[in-house]
Amino acid sequence: MRDRMLAAEKVKAIDWRDDALYLLDQRVLPFEEVWHRYTTAEGVAEAIRTMVVRGAPAIGISAAYGAVLAARARIAQGADWYPALEEDMQLLADSRPTAVNLFWALNRMRDRLMRVKDGDDPLAALEAEAVAIHLSDREANLTMAQLGADLIRKHQGNLQTVLTHCNTGALATGGFGTALGVIRAAHLEGMIERVYADETRPWLQGSRLTAWELANEGIPVTLNADSAAAHLMRTKGITWVIVGADRITANGDVANKIGTYQLAVAAMHHGVRFMVVAPSSTIDMDMASGDDIIIEERDGRELLEVGGQRVGAEVEAFNPVFDVTPADLIDAIVTEKGIVERPDTARMAQLMSRKHLH
Ligand code: MRU
Repeated sequence: MRDRMLAAEKVKAIDWRDDALYLLDQRVLPFEEVWHRYTTAEGVAEAIRTMVVRGAPAIGISAAYGAVLAARARIAQGADWYPALEEDMQLLADSRPTAVNLFWALNRMRDRLMRVKDGDDPLAALEAEAVAIHLSDREANLTMAQLGADLIRKHQGNLQTVLTHCNTGALATGGFGTALGVIRAAHLEGMIERVYADETRPWLQGSRLTAWELANEGIPVTLNADSAAAHLMRTKGITWVIVGADRITANGDVANKIGTYQLAVAAMHHGVRFMVVAPSSTIDMDMASGDDIIIEERDGRELLEVGGQRVGAEVEAFNPVFDVTPADLIDAIVTEKGIVERPDTARMAQLMSRKHLH
């Protein structure tokens, strides 16, 4: 199955080569495939802030490479490079607030730096750590994809009609995807009849990115307005809602793209199962519940304009871009460490105490 999954992967969004970070510009997909080259931490922070790169694991990976770029510049400046590097790390950390993967990746880079021994090359150690973060995310995706597909088979044997929100594919991760990875694996195993993709207003991750990724792979996909989701659950035989996450707290609450919460409420009402797929780097055991998550609010122009063209009246617009789904609306959280069904604090703690999948 692993080979089939790897063969099915058509898209990548992050590339580290020739001492530089290359990012596929997600703001202009699917119309243009434009790559940008980054050689500074400032550039990478700006790419995360402006969503050249987006998706929780992808911004964590990009920030890790940003830290390598920062270290190269600071070490070249000479003796007192360590505090200056911390300033760059902070700049990267300030680029977006909600997805914990960003802070998790930067903390891993800091920890690696602390463990560099006298005589070792700190830059080489940091680069190896960033590459490891990138590769392990891809591996985690493959593991989760298989676990999620197995879970679908366990609960319902026949062909599935699923609904997803935002973009959780190869574009949003180190490769293959989280929720979209599960959908891909289930499709490879002949279990997917159709995927409904929420368009995901206002940034249109669903219509621009998810629809593009799925169509590229020949997976049957139908685009729908976000507001059609409950109607689809009622009329189209949806069996699963499958989404990713930006931060999962110790009690199993899930922050994800705005609109996820109302999907979970509607899913509960219609008896549709609700699956969250995220690597353990998305789990924030230091935060007790979703009430404490900082929800990013972006410029109201994202709502008032489409493609730079004003479409709304001259009013104030409120644009929170994530929401929190309470744990009790979630059937399963799928991670590379295993699956937590009906998540709560005890089950989340048990999952996170595992070293490996078993
Ligand atoms: O604002 P975005 O596009 O970065 O938001 C992305 C999401 O909400 C995804 O669902 C989440 O990061 C999981 S991606 C594997």
